[in-house]
Amino acid sequence: MKYYLTTPIYYVNAAPHIGHAYTTIVADLLKRFKRMEGYEPVLTTGSDEHGVNVERSAQRAGKTPKEFTDAIAAEFERQWQMLGLQIDHFQRTTNPQHARVVQDLFERCRKNGYVYKGSYTGQYCIFDNLYVNDAKPGDPCPDCGRPTETITEENFFFKLSAFQEKLLALYESNPGFLQPETRRNEVISFVKAGLKDLSITRTNIKWGIPVEGESPHVFYVWFDALATYMSAVEGEGQWPADLHLIGKEIVRFHAVYWPAFLMAAGLELPKQIFAHGWLLFENDKMSKSRGNIVRAEPIKEVMGADALRYFLLREVVFGQDGSFSYDALVGRYNSDLANGLGNLASRTLTMIKQYRGGLIPAGPSRFDSEPTIQKVREAFDAFEFSKGLESIWSLIGAVDKYIVTRAPWKQAKDAPPEQLDETLYTAADALRIVTALVSPVLPQSADKIWAQLGMTDPLSSVRFETLKWGELRPGQAIGEIAAVFPRIEAKDAIAKMRALEEKVTAEQQLLMGKKAEEAAAEGPAKIPIDDFLKVDLRVGLVLTAEPVKGSTKLMQMTVDIGEPAPRTIVAGIAEAYTAADLVNRKVVIVANLQPRKLKGIESNGMIVAASVNDGKPVLAGFHEDIPVGARLK
Ligand code: ME8
Ligand code: MG
Repeated sequence: MKYYLTTPIYYVNAAPHIGHAYTTIVADLLKRFKRMEGYEPVLTTGSDEHGVNVERSAQRAGKTPKEFTDAIAAEFERQWQMLGLQIDHFQRTTNPQHARVVQDLFERCRKNGYVYKGSYTGQYCIFDNLYVNDAKPGDPCPDCGRPTETITEENFFFKLSAFQEKLLALYESNPGFLQPETRRNEVISFVKAGLKDLSITRTNIKWGIPVEGESPHVFYVWFDALATYMSAVEGEGQWPADLHLIGKEIVRFHAVYWPAFLMAAGLELPKQIFAHGWLLFENDKMSKSRGNIVRAEPIKEVMGADALRYFLLREVVFGQDGSFSYDALVGRYNSDLANGLGNLASRTLTMIKQYRGGLIPAGPSRFDSEPTIQKVREAFDAFEFSKGLESIWSLIGAVDKYIVTRAPWKQAKDAPPEQLDETLYTAADALRIVTALVSPVLPQSADKIWAQLGMTDPLSSVRFETLKWGELRPGQAIGEIAAVFPRIEAKDAIAKMRALEEKVTAEQQLLMGKKAEEAAAEGPAKIPIDDFLKVDLRVGLVLTAEPVKGSTKLMQMTVDIGEPAPRTIVAGIAEAYTAADLVNRKVVIVANLQPRKLKGIESNGMIVAASVNDGKPVLAGFHEDIPVGARLK
């Protein structure tokens, strides 16, 4: 049976952080869980690469949009591999095959009479690609708070207004379509308030999928992006999707626009949308615009990917907002993984080794794990991961208590051997069940415990249908015992993660094309006008120029800036300009810099030039004539 699930396709204007990892990890967990339920699940994620915002980010980075998006998309893919996630399709919106699917979706809507040409003037947020109705110029975006931009365009419009009743009927007849309940209610009121037609093409940007035969129109990014869910699995019989997992801020696009597009096109609708809450950090939504980001890589390096997964799924109630903190992460790890599951595994296996030569003794098992198995299935099926994990941990607690009550260390001394056999078998069999149950959440650690139990069938082949308690094979030789969750010293681990965080952030910002010093301040800081006026910028005339001996880059010049004597200025422009290019040229000089020695020559000023990504400098100059010494301000 098929089960097709998706994550959002993430914008490539920021490098991945644990907010993106959160959704993608949950999708991976669900994929593993559905496999245990007997499905053949397929998971799509990808990258959303078009739009003004990406175009501008690329420009800032001094790259073409293609170069820029290639680099960031690769970084997202690397991230998912690093975390061990089982992604089937990483679909990029720049994939030409995807463009065909978008075009086809458009043609279908047009053929069915839901597309018309019209003109739009209004406010638009380039960061969220959101048309903001009833806003005035300069009003902030309701989602991210940044100023909206006024756009006026002739566009193709989608008759969203025609779908009000149909959408309401959809939510009504299918209460599971959009979850959780709070999101469903919000969307219902939004739709009830009335739907305006939606512009689905743009003419003032180039970085988008062209509308065939309608140049210069390109598709509105959300029309383009949503179609990824279909294009990723084109021809595979996976559509309609069984589940779109998303964050709560993009509910409207998924639960209103997307089903309307599909209805208009006469295509099948996704079966379910689940919108989870936000991960907060320092009490605010973790986001690139707020700059309060935590990355997955340092956590994985120091504590392992499973520690992050466990924290996100156990600590945060799925559907609600939840806070991330390093303290809580380490706390959860030590109390639940090291002392809980890890301790149960090591004590059980160690006793089997010690008392029974490493062979699983004969049963029976005294522990009926069936109710726990059922509870976990129900909870995970209802997206109640935290609750499912609680059930598993109460089983762990019960087994621990059982071991203490039976006191196998005493049984080993003075009880008939069947009694100790029974204790050890019961504990080992329960450990087997627990390991299978946690495997969707803790896949790497569960694999290790599975191997230590001496299980030979791969854990990934386990199905709930055949997972029965009391069926551990007696006589089975256990594997080599090693701590799966060694205790972690909080202070040390946190210091390490913070240090790595800085390193990874800097690396990723360089990837975004930011200079190190800019990156540190997350873009150049705004300065008051007075600060700018402190810079004495002058028009200068180059009188003489000669390359500095022993340097390929430096050029020594004398420059007249309207002072009694010309200045000596040394600049790194010799690879871009010859002496002859420079003499008699008017340039811009920063006149009040402190003198600096370069190759032993004192330079008294700086020449202003632009450069792209540390490429060759291009001198600033003037089209009109302007007297030497004139001040720029
Ligand atoms: O919206 N907490 O992309 P995006 C929880 N390209 N989840 C978070 C999060 C946080 N602090 N930050 C990000 C887009 N996410 C569009 C989607 S789909 C056709 C197009 C996760 O890069 C969460 O899943 O802004 C959220 O919805 C998504 O990343 C937004 O990613
Ligand atoms: Mg976003």
